[in-house]
Formats: sequence, C-alpha cells, structure tokens
Amino acid sequence: MHPCGTSRQVSNKLFYWSKLQAVNGTFARHVCEGSRAIQTLCACPITMPYNKDLAYIHDAGFTESARQAADTVLKLLREKKIKSGLVVDLGCGSGVLADRLTREGFDVLGVDISEAMLKLARKRAPKAKFKRGSLFRTRLSKSVAVTAIGECVNYLFDPGGTALLANFFRRVYRALLPGGVFVFDIVEPGSTPKPSILHCEGKDKAKDWAVLVSKEEDARRRVLTRRMTIFRKVGRLYRRSQEMHRQRLYPPAQVARKLKTAGFNVSRLPGYGKEPFAPGRSGFAAWKP
Ligand SMILES: C[S@@+](CC[C@H](N)C(=O)[O-])C[C@H]1O[C@@H](n2cnc3c(N)ncnc32)[C@H](O)[C@@H]1O
Repeated sequence: MHPCGTSRQVSNKLFYWSKLQAVNGTFARHVCEGSRAIQTLCACPITMPYNKDLAYIHDAGFTESARQAADTVLKLLREKKIKSGLVVDLGCGSGVLADRLTREGFDVLGVDISEAMLKLARKRAPKAKFKRGSLFRTRLSKSVAVTAIGECVNYLFDPGGTALLANFFRRVYRALLPGGVFVFDIVEPGSTPKPSILHCEGKDKAKDWAVLVSKEEDARRRVLTRRMTIFRKVGRLYRRSQEMHRQRLYPPAQVARKLKTAGFNVSRLPGYGKEPFAPGRSGFAAWKP
C-alpha cells in the first residue's frame, strides 16, 4: 500500500493510487514505485520516499549508525574468519556501509528503493554495485552477509506486513552461505508513546537544511507515521518539500521467533559499534548454521 492510500493493480504493474489529499490547498504530483511508465494518477502531498532533498539530509546528518554498524558487521565476519565475499546491503542509503566494506576487501551489492540515495551511494562507494528495488522483492545472490541498517525492514513502502517479513527472512536465509550472517535493526511498538514534534537542522558550516518531523504511533495497528517538512537551501532560498513515512512496528520477540523459524541462530545486538540502541530499537545478528 502506498503510504498515503490504497493500492491497485494496473497493466500487470503494481502501482499505488493515493487517496486525494490536499495540504494547504495544493496537490503535488508524483510518480510511484514500479510505475515509471505510468505517469502518476496520484494527487498527493508526499513525494517518493527519500527524494533528493531528504536523501541529501540523511547523508549529511544521519549516517552515524551506518558507520557504527560497519564496525559491528566487520567484527562479526572476522570472528568467523570471513575476510572476503559478497555482502548484500539492503536499504543501503547513501552507501556509507558499502564504502567501508569495499575498502576492507568485500564485494558489495547495495539495494535501495530511492534513486536519490543510490546516486549518492554510487558516488561514495565506486567499487560497490548498486541496484534500485525493494529489499522485500529483489533477487538475493549468494552472500557471506546481508545487512539492513536503519530500520529498513520496518518501512511500509511495500504492501504486506508480518507475512512479508517471515517470507523475507526465509529468502535471506536461502541466500546466505553456511556460516553467513544477517545483521539488521528494527523499531518496536511503544517507541513513540506520545505524538511528538522534532526539529533537526544541519550543524555543519553549511547549515543548509532543516527538517520538522511529527511522529505519531497507532498503538492498535502498530504503525508509526512520520510526517516531515523538509527545507534545503538552494541558492539563497530554501526549497520546501514533504514526505510521509509509515513503519510497521515489530516486537523483538516476534522478530526473533520468525528468524528462528526461518532456520537462523539468533543473537540480539546491544547496539552498533560503540553506540547502544536507543530505547524502542533492537538489533539482531542472525547466523545461518
Ligand atoms: C533510515 S535510511 C538508512 C540508510 C542506510 N542503511 C544507513 O544506515 O545510512 C532507510 C533506507 O531504507 C530504504 N528503504 C526503505 N524501505 C525500503 C524497501 N522496501 N526496499 C529498499 N529500500 C528501502 C530507504 O530508501 C532508505 O535509504
């Protein structure tokens, strides 16, 4: 289901048809996933996930956990004496993990749903390969590790729910070589007990971005909605855009159970690198025996 509405099947291509929504009386047109050829019929105030400006902001201000995760992934692989081979980085974002792993001698395939993120990733990690697609649907090659860092499995940019997750775990398991590891993290129910509004801005010299984020958790449906108003400086002015992201929240015990059912040996991670997970976040290292 599209973050903003219902889904429909047209011409054998899945595309998402938004409910007509107006924000400030204006409609923005956008092209939805899987429907490049079908110019949008949506009239919706949100853009594709991680459009150009949010991808830029993610890269400028929110890649520390990918840096820390690189230490964890390398440590886990070294413990098993794995020094080379393919790592598939799902939801690779702007390529921070891919860059580090290729520098350490691994082959990396990064997969992301956002073309803007992939553009940044290709620049940062020229030795890695990248492809656009959904992590839940992309074909997974035989690999020594699969990673999904930064709550990637929670996002509801794809239709489906917990059944999709169980199926996804089975596919990751099949793709891993014996002794391989799947490293990822999740957001849990209760991570946002009360609706909240955050303001983040660039702290570097450029100070060329700011984001207002409102977060609201639907406890009954276990869905977190983040609405973002994004400002990015272009010339002397700030360009304004909006995105809405929805995430399904998974209890960690349920995730561990699904991993075990898929065949994994599961350990919970305390954090990535030197950074413990914030309350409401959990991480896993799931090993294929
Ligand atoms: C919070 S960012 C994390 C990016 C990167 N892993 C990092 O840690 O810097 C989440 C990423 O997941 C991607 N993503 C979310 N759902 C996805 C899906 N179903 N398939 C592929 N990528 C997805 C987004 O486009 C975004 O790049």
